[in-house]
Amino acid sequence: MAGPILIFDSGVGGLSVAAAIRERLPAATLAYVCDNAMLPYGTKPDAWLVERITAVCREAVRVSGAAVLVVACNTASTLALEALRAALDIPVVGTVPAIKPAAALSRTGTIALLATSATVNRAYTRQLIEEFAGHCRVLRLAADPLVAEAERHLAGEPADEATLVASLAPLWRESALDTVVLGCTHFPLLRARFAACAPRVVAWVDSGDAIARRVAAIVATPLAGQTNRAWATAPGRALAAILAERGFGSPQVLDPGAVRVPVAR
Ligand code: DGL
Repeated sequence: MAGPILIFDSGVGGLSVAAAIRERLPAATLAYVCDNAMLPYGTKPDAWLVERITAVCREAVRVSGAAVLVVACNTASTLALEALRAALDIPVVGTVPAIKPAAALSRTGTIALLATSATVNRAYTRQLIEEFAGHCRVLRLAADPLVAEAERHLAGEPADEATLVASLAPLWRESALDTVVLGCTHFPLLRARFAACAPRVVAWVDSGDAIARRVAAIVATPLAGQTNRAWATAPGRALAAILAERGFGSPQVLDPGAVRVPVAR
């Protein structure tokens, strides 16, 4: 493959997917792009998101020369995969909530999807649940404030305990719940904090390794030994430090073209 594996998210959430890809393909050259100027995605309108995601990914693919695009964002993947595949001429791998493995893992048949409000309400998500968890009781829980907490956590600031506890509280009302799908790529970054504030043990399931396996199957011989690079749509000191620490170097600013202000939901 002639180009890097390009990983895209609204913010730092995609780094949970990057870590899984690195584990499976340690020598592969990676590139990272985030639309931090428009973070968070989970509360923005669908039509605007499709346009924005397509513009950012198209420009990032162009400047990085990527061989494959990994959409490391559930909010983007459950909405814009079709548009991205139509707009790009490289393979596009999406990240969607791990409903299928969670339903297979659960012993009680009660599982939860923890994700952004956009993801929990998507037709794509309802379809996933119908197809793979029809025999389960599935609690869909929107937890948008956890996105900012994950960003803070990675920036070295403590995530707010009260926000974590309040966001997860509805889970514990389901006494039979034994498995929670981390349906936002930001959330695996807080997994240890979630487990620490959970009143009982549950399995926390994410899609990272499944995505990495898919990428490895597509890029059988990934580009190796080149410099990992990063792009962001807005400058930011904390983000630069996070990306540098993970070997991506300092991000360059990416201009995806005219940015229209999203209409409030
Ligand atoms: N990391 C993204 C996801 O997987 C969403 C975060 C956001 O709301 O921007 O859904």
